Amino acid sequence: MAIDVRSDGKEGLTAAAGAMLDARRVREALGRISYPGLERDLVSFGMVKDVEICGAAVRVRLAIRTDDATIRERLRALISAQLQLIGATEVIVEIVKPALVLPSHPPAARAHSPRAGVPDPWAERVRLGRVRHVIAVGAGKGGVGKSTVAVNLALALHRRGLAVGMLDADIYGPSVPTLLGIESAKHDVRMTAEKHIIPVSVHGLAIISFGFFLGEGSPAIWRGPMVSKAVKQFARGVAWPELDVLIVDLPPGTGDIPLSLVQAVEVRGAIVVTQPPRLAAMEAQKAGEMFSTLGVPVLGVVENMTGAFGEGGGAAVARALAAPFLGSILFDPMVVGEGDAGTPTLLARVDCEFSRVFDVMAGTLADALDERVAPASALRRTRE
Ligand SMILES: Nc1ncnc2c1ncn2[C@@H]1O[C@H](COP(=O)(O)OP(=O)(O)O)[C@@H](O)[C@H]1O
Ligand SMILES: [Mg+2]
Repeated sequence: MAIDVRSDGKEGLTAAAGAMLDARRVREALGRISYPGLERDLVSFGMVKDVEICGAAVRVRLAIRTDDATIRERLRALISAQLQLIGATEVIVEIVKPALVLPSHPPAARAHSPRAGVPDPWAERVRLGRVRHVIAVGAGKGGVGKSTVAVNLALALHRRGLAVGMLDADIYGPSVPTLLGIESAKHDVRMTAEKHIIPVSVHGLAIISFGFFLGEGSPAIWRGPMVSKAVKQFARGVAWPELDVLIVDLPPGTGDIPLSLVQAVEVRGAIVVTQPPRLAAMEAQKAGEMFSTLGVPVLGVVENMTGAFGEGGGAAVARALAAPFLGSILFDPMVVGEGDAGTPTLLARVDCEFSRVFDVMAGTLADALDERVAPASALRRTRE
């Protein structure tokens, strides 16, 4: 007789004379499987919903977001192989979609709800009530110009009449306050009576940055679970105005922050920034694959600093990810000084080649989001 410990904490008996397997061993084995493209294993990810054992037969229920058949099949194969190693003769992998929690106002109210059993990181996922589309900007490598692209893209979308906000979630190197010239705003950040952070308003954008809340040297001590909790609270605990688009500037790579963001709020899509050299392109492709894996479509690939390091990597990354290529941004030495001075190029030099490319990219993106007519911003304009 085997004891079947379910993820909801209940125990049940299954008639299985002579069984060698138990739920603990099965979970240990599943804990050795990394989610394809990510550094985290299935169990700590909260994806294993249920394990049932009957003799040498094991049934595993997995909750994953992706519709990607390749990833699903890969997971089935990995699970079967791991469980066969510990003696399972029949393995059934049932794949379900994690439930999406629909708007609860205020959005952060669910963050502390006590839950029984194994924590489910997806269970707290919310749709940000007043934000139509959350768009993550990511990259494989640091220094490819991700924040510069995020800021100028936000401004270009705003110029088209969309209501745009930015969440600078780069906990290790928040640069949005510098790029927008609002570093001193950290002293003026206010909360609502319900303890939601009120974004800072600059150049028509609503901005919140981790940089407003970090002290000297604090990033080094942020580790896995702390980062994850901070990102979730940070993503949901802001009193955003009505927004068509919220651009999230992520740290480079495939670590805890993108994962936590996607688990915290519904992300409409991702933009991947890369540079021409092959190594940067390979890293960017990994970042793109991570988004697809998490069920977040890649809305476009942007190649930055074209010319300085050759050209062509961006289009190849887009092809590999089966995503649209949004365009190449030339290396322009003046961009560095404009960023340091807090006057983004799109505002400093409205008509230069750099700004024109951003206008085109914003148009493509707005069309992809079907935001040619922007209801939230139109609403705002009639109120003003
Ligand atoms: N197209 C460009 N031409 C010239 N310099 C650029 C360009 N894009 C970004 N930069 C500069 O490159 C550096 C890194 O950019 P940043 O946006 O901070 O990168 P990341 O966010 O990827 O770390 C900054 O000094 C920025 O001004
Ligand atoms: Mg950056």
